[in-house]
Amino acid sequence: MKLDIDQQLLQSEIDALAGYSSEPPPVVTRVVYSEADREARVYVKGLFAEAGLDVREDPIGNAFARWVGSEPELPPVGTGSHIDAIPNAGKYDGTVGVLGGLEAIRALQRGGFTPRRSIELLLFTAEEPTRFGIGCPGSRMLAGALTAEAAGQLRDRDEASLNELRAAAGFGGELADVALPRGYYEYFVELHIEQGPLLEREGLSIGIVQSIAAPAGLNILIEGEGGHAGTVLMPDRKDAFTAAAELALAIEGLTKQLGGSDTVATVGKCEVFPGAVNSIPNRVKMSLDLRDTDGARRDRVLDAVGIAAKEIAARRRVAITTELLNADAPAPCDTQIIEASRAACEAHGIPYREMVSRAYHDSLFMHRVCPMGMIFIPCRGGVSHRPDEYSSPEQIAAGALVLAETLARLAGGAE
Ligand code: GLV
Ligand code: MN
Ligand code: MN
Repeated sequence: MKLDIDQQLLQSEIDALAGYSSEPPPVVTRVVYSEADREARVYVKGLFAEAGLDVREDPIGNAFARWVGSEPELPPVGTGSHIDAIPNAGKYDGTVGVLGGLEAIRALQRGGFTPRRSIELLLFTAEEPTRFGIGCPGSRMLAGALTAEAAGQLRDRDEASLNELRAAAGFGGELADVALPRGYYEYFVELHIEQGPLLEREGLSIGIVQSIAAPAGLNILIEGEGGHAGTVLMPDRKDAFTAAAELALAIEGLTKQLGGSDTVATVGKCEVFPGAVNSIPNRVKMSLDLRDTDGARRDRVLDAVGIAAKEIAARRRVAITTELLNADAPAPCDTQIIEASRAACEAHGIPYREMVSRAYHDSLFMHRVCPMGMIFIPCRGGVSHRPDEYSSPEQIAAGALVLAETLARLAGGAE
């Protein structure tokens, strides 16, 4: 169908949303339930309402904006993404899927299209693990992959609970009411930046995702013995940091040895206590983020890391405890959504390829609610999670166009 994306409007909204940040531009930092996140939500929900969408929010702040179709009793087609941003991030990760989803709906409205199934735009609460250590708490809860009880236990680094924080952000009600029944949506499709280099390298506008890799997250606590940096001799030490360093290197080695080219491990956080120049570290808290397209292979690496931790702890006379935060399965994308996205690219003469998503997304969990798919656009140099993250207005508009056409095909309807 004939669709006009308002590239300038969409870009101006992405730029305006980037202004809601707890750090000055070009940095975007928008941690869930922070002041920046709360103000950004007000801005985005205002845009949803301006487009005539019916907006509701659930008890943790997932927002749903519905364009009611001609057969409102049918399960809707969902789209959307997140607006939270990790510390020192850029302005496109997640936001392109929310504001691009909105522009896709507006383009369909302007084109005089009436969807048969309703189209519902979602803003998920917190795709990023920054605040609670676990990624996608919003979509995890929607999918029933994080129970109300487990969510009630979540705390941030200052020991503030998810319940206190959501209440302070204005979200009340029972956590048990967040989960959606299976089949609530007919399909869910998310637009996102690739966060990798392939599309740009190959000069392609669109990536149609075939599957999302399986992430796992671990908290690791290492407890040794502190002491004076001058007087405790080397043989007498139980240095928590050197044990942590050895474990981090073991993780890297085991990932290379047991994993494949798709297996990746990152120790991205390492806090050393008491954190004084002349004091032997008595405690280290570190994180492990481990992913693979093959869930079983990822788990073999995870098991080997556990064995290495025990060996290092015994040899170095420290205690190492690990807490598994999540070990999610990979998710395949739905063939009908892939087919609709392909047809959308072909209808508009847009070059595309199919690909795996190595980053995780809310779609990984929406997969448990309904058939799921994703559409990627290129980003410069494959850079993401950095202030210099960039996709051009044209690239974003092409993504919104393919999303709009895909939604129209999945929802059915008439011009
Ligand atoms: C999502 O931000 C991820 O880390 O893949
Ligand atoms: Mn991200
Ligand atoms: Mn994202």
